[in-house]
Amino acid sequence: MKSLNIGIIGFGTVGTGVYNVLKSFKNIKIKKIAVKNINKKRNIENFDESLLTSNAYELANDPEIDVIVEVAGGLDPAFDLLKTAIQNGKHIVTANKELLAKKGSELFKLAKEKKVVILYEAAVAGGIPIIFPIKTILCANKINKIAAILNGTTNYILTKMAEKELSYETALKQAQELGYAETDPTGDVEGFDAAYKIAILSTISFNKKVDINKIYREGITKITSQDIKSAKELGYTIKLIAMGQLLENGEIDVRVHPMLVAKKHLLAKIDNATNSIMLSGYPVGDLVFTGAGAGAEPTASSVVGDILVLASELETTDMPLPQTVCNHNEYAKQIPIGETYNEYYIAINASNSPGVIGLIGTICGQNNINISTIMQKGINNDNTAEIVVITEKSKESDVQKALEELLKSNCIKNIDNLLRVMN
Ligand SMILES: NC(=O)c1ccc[n+]([C@@H]2O[C@H](COP(=O)([O-])OP(=O)(O)OC[C@H]3O[C@@H](n4cnc5c(N)ncnc54)[C@H](OP(=O)(O)O)[C@@H]3O)[C@@H](O)[C@H]2O)c1
Repeated sequence: MKSLNIGIIGFGTVGTGVYNVLKSFKNIKIKKIAVKNINKKRNIENFDESLLTSNAYELANDPEIDVIVEVAGGLDPAFDLLKTAIQNGKHIVTANKELLAKKGSELFKLAKEKKVVILYEAAVAGGIPIIFPIKTILCANKINKIAAILNGTTNYILTKMAEKELSYETALKQAQELGYAETDPTGDVEGFDAAYKIAILSTISFNKKVDINKIYREGITKITSQDIKSAKELGYTIKLIAMGQLLENGEIDVRVHPMLVAKKHLLAKIDNATNSIMLSGYPVGDLVFTGAGAGAEPTASSVVGDILVLASELETTDMPLPQTVCNHNEYAKQIPIGETYNEYYIAINASNSPGVIGLIGTICGQNNINISTIMQKGINNDNTAEIVVITEKSKESDVQKALEELLKSNCIKNIDNLLRVMN
């Protein structure tokens, strides 16, 4: 393996994990580490403080550094720093999914011009190897479907809501106390993090650029204990699912939203902070990749793996890993959520009056929706009833229209939730 000088930008959870794992690899020399706050106490044994700088451009412009490892996160200044480093002929290893999902095509174009590579195994599902397998050994396949749990925080919250019958708010608070959720959990609970990851996965799986702004995204903040309970009674568990599908006409359907997942489905069995990716392709068939989607050590496994693969390739060639170069010039045609077909779970709050079930059946029927299950869940103190409907496969725009019509009736008080179903 070639000896490489690396510069690490970011020395938080992932950066310190990478530092610790790299101690075993004598051919990789850490030349400099950039941080935001140089005065912060770093609890690392025998750490040489002189490695630190608060000016990350020192690394991007250092002619002795071969590879920049970017584990700081965010767009600014990461985007400009990586552009500078690439312009200076440095290879990049990054864990930054937001940067790749929003600005990846610009960076990959520049990297191609400058004959350097950008490796990003850690950007999707932390320690699970998924980018490299898709780009290398699975390249003979036409991948047509990905369904995945890509966010550990939301999976942890949903698991605890189901196991301990907690409200969303209580489960989130406990996740924050245990370090599974950040103080501002928006990126995770509103599905942004999973959307960045499925944008990257869909781009490399379907070989066309996916526009992050066209991904339908819905988080878990509206899931109630009642939804979890109803799902359980019906034989389902609720998960935040990121999916990408190549349709027969070549269009693609990419989205992130909570789903009722049938208990027999493999993804229903993925609990707590674990991630899992199911992938279907021809000729390989179905594959499942499961493991730790975050954390210092699992994520360092992917970052250090990328660095070592690079070191090994650079031993014999100046232009390593041609398979990993991203050449996607065309944008995929992404369909809007209204055009998708799904089975649905609809939770309705209605007045306890005769004919309500009939009215729901009629309005669904008029909008091409077949009901497969309808269940009334007792009477509330205010003389309203909770009604749960599961539909057969229907068009989203028809379902939305039916819900609008239902809400015009005096006896329908509210649509408490609409979730899609995966069997
Ligand atoms: N955490 C995970 O398990 C995980 C898993 C997969 C991917 N990732 C991705 O990995 C990246 C890092 O995540 P993390 O959890 O390690 O974050 P983190 O713990 O918040 O650490 C961020 C680090 O970046 C440094 N930093 C921030 N702005 C900087 C700047 N302008 N110049 C130089 N350094 C700067 C911070 O410096 P100070 O220490 O001085 O504050 C800190 O050391 C993100 O893109 C994240 O999405 C994380």
